[in-house]
Amino acid sequence: MLTRRPTPAELEQALSLVPDNQAFYAGAWQGAAQGKTFTVCNPLNQQPLKAVPDCGPDEAALAIQASASAQVSWRALTARQRADGLRRWYEALLAHEAELALLMTLEQGKPLAESLGEVRYGASFLEWFGEEAKRIYGETIPAFKAGTRILVTPEPVGVCAIATPWNFPIAMMTRKVGAALAAGCSVNVKPAAETPLCALALVRLAEQAGLPPNVIQVLPTTEPEPLFQVFQQSPVVRKLSFTGSTKVGQLLMREAATTLKRVSLELGGNAPFVVFEAADIRSAVQGAMQSKFRNMGQTCVCANRFLVQRAIYPAFAHALAEAMKELRCGDGLEPGIDQGPLIHARALHKVESHVADALAKGARCVLGGSRPASDSPFFQPTLLLDASPDMLVFKEETFGPVAALMPFDSEEDALRRANDTPFGLAAYVYTQNIAQALRVAEGLECGMVAINEGILSSEVAPFGGIKASGMGREGSRHGVQEYVQLKYVLLGGL
Ligand code: SIN
Repeated sequence: MLTRRPTPAELEQALSLVPDNQAFYAGAWQGAAQGKTFTVCNPLNQQPLKAVPDCGPDEAALAIQASASAQVSWRALTARQRADGLRRWYEALLAHEAELALLMTLEQGKPLAESLGEVRYGASFLEWFGEEAKRIYGETIPAFKAGTRILVTPEPVGVCAIATPWNFPIAMMTRKVGAALAAGCSVNVKPAAETPLCALALVRLAEQAGLPPNVIQVLPTTEPEPLFQVFQQSPVVRKLSFTGSTKVGQLLMREAATTLKRVSLELGGNAPFVVFEAADIRSAVQGAMQSKFRNMGQTCVCANRFLVQRAIYPAFAHALAEAMKELRCGDGLEPGIDQGPLIHARALHKVESHVADALAKGARCVLGGSRPASDSPFFQPTLLLDASPDMLVFKEETFGPVAALMPFDSEEDALRRANDTPFGLAAYVYTQNIAQALRVAEGLECGMVAINEGILSSEVAPFGGIKASGMGREGSRHGVQEYVQLKYVLLGGL
């Protein structure tokens, strides 16, 4: 499938995974009550792909009711039964991985090989959380009074509202929904307006896999605020999980306070990629390429600031430039393409403004620096040297294929600069000196550190940040706990 361009019939088949103009809520595939729709377009050329319902407060209210009754029966199943359902859904994703990957490249733009990787990565959360469902243990505690026992039992938090981002439209949904379902919760998903097709395809496959109706509902919308406020204001909805910007995360957290919902927030990052002179430069360049250019730089965990020890700065910059020259931009459906279009014009403008700001403040552009043409949906892989902390490329998440390098002198200097940000999601460190690796990993203020590796995401490990990057963990055994609340039972009269 990756050695040739998919045929029109294959693309048609991928799109047919999603029913025309229907969302799944309140027990049925149906349109929005007022008949409103919007069209999902290919970011490559703005060609329309499919119309979907434009849901709003009315649909959200119906979904909450349906979700509440579905949750009662879902939590009553045995853990084994929930695990079996998640397993069947996992298998359905894998059975349809080729179509799902095509759908993702069509609506999101990432190269097909990456889309396929994401489908498998996304499926892995369903497998993982299905297994974890059977291991959500309680405890007994030595009692404080004779004739009593203390039991602590894990219970599902209940109905959940989940908002997923466009950059990983499948994996970010399964990472949340898999954990919620394992715990016995029901979920209402609001996918990003750019990528609702993947979310709708997933719920269709869940239905085919025999998951009960309304345990997962998907409500696409172009107006997230009024729709999500219905979830936020409802006392029936007990949990909010959001992946997206820090600004929106702060707003959602404030709103969630009114009904005191549990909150998980996976927000922006500003990952430092620190290369010490004790690094293996080849491996550091390989890691930099993976971390920086995955999904065209549109990941929360991608390297945003390259800090390189002065002695190896020229060698690293040269090797990175050579590797970057090999990247090919184009239609992600074509074999051999490494970089697809950015998601939309706003994303392109942001990247352009970051590069312009860096150049105005003294950075040197040695590769790329612009779109190939003024109306192009691509941004050329860009290498900026001599960046500094006052530049936007160092202060904010660029979310594009721009590598900005800055030299540092000592380990203390590197650590101080790496931590000089309100964000704290991921960090990358390259050094062959194990003592240095551990010292720096311990000193970094963030939720995740990769040492001598460029990709750290996996269903088995806890993904999440600290500081302005949010709270809560996804994936791993910790991911399920976000959807579990404890009940203490004191058993007397024994
Ligand atoms: C993200 O960008 O938020 C997630 C990327 C990942 O799971 O690796």
